[in-house]
Amino acid sequence: MDTFEDSKITDVAILGYGGNCFDVADAIEAINSKSQKYRLAGFFDDSDNKKINDKYPPILGKINDAQHFKDLCFVNAIGSTRSFKLKEEIIKRSGINNERFISIIHPRAVVSPSATIKNGTVILAGVNIGPSVAIGHHVMILQNSVIGHDSIIGDYSIIAAGAVINGNVTVKPSVFIGAKSVVLENRTLESNSLLGAGAVLTKDLSKDAIAKGNPAK
Ligand SMILES: CC(C)(COP(=O)(O)OP(=O)(O)OC[C@H]1O[C@@H](n2cnc3c(N)ncnc32)[C@H](O)[C@@H]1OP(=O)(O)O)[C@@H](O)C(=O)NCCC(=O)NCCS
Repeated sequence: MDTFEDSKITDVAILGYGGNCFDVADAIEAINSKSQKYRLAGFFDDSDNKKINDKYPPILGKINDAQHFKDLCFVNAIGSTRSFKLKEEIIKRSGINNERFISIIHPRAVVSPSATIKNGTVILAGVNIGPSVAIGHHVMILQNSVIGHDSIIGDYSIIAAGAVINGNVTVKPSVFIGAKSVVLENRTLESNSLLGAGAVLTKDLSKDAIAKGNPAK
């Protein structure tokens, strides 16, 4: 039998109206298809000229307005190859504290029971998170990526679709890992670094570095 808590519906809004924001909305919808857990109120975005997709709820305001919507929880869809380094600053500037962020895990993701995931993080369909993985706040892991056992994914990082992060990898905060890339086991990617799409990372990646190709350089 459902308890009161189980049957409570949470009003949620998505920060960001670009890139993967509708993937996040669809993940919320997929969670709701079993039994309704969330009501998607809309989006917050700083841009004035966004192309509106009327299949989804409206843009409710700028990101700095979001904190004033006292009944809403939030999830994060900010982040692209252009904006990934700014994600921390944008979220801190929003004035929304971490307790008001929720994590969204698509029901078709596989997450080890020993993995930990912090608030604000989104995990999309087909992702596989291995044993003892630790995922920070405001991380986005896109479709079909694999995070190997004991890896650490730092706050604000973005793992694009189909990336394979092998075991014992450390991804520091605000890293962008490109689609279909591979990170060999035990490697470290320092903060603000970017690994290009399709790259194979065989060495550690230093702070602010951009590496592409196989082996990544
Ligand atoms: C690595 C990356 C950031 C480089 O971007 P950029 O600096 O704008 O690069 P450019 O498009 O100007 O290309 C510069 C050169 O690098 C090459 N290049 C670009 N991306 C590459 C990649 N991923 N692997 C190998 N070579 C690449 C280009 O062919 C070009 O080579 P040339 O000078 O011989 O013509 C980008 O291409 C990339 O891989 N982004 C990740 C995309 C992704 O995964 N998106 C997920 C969406 S959520």
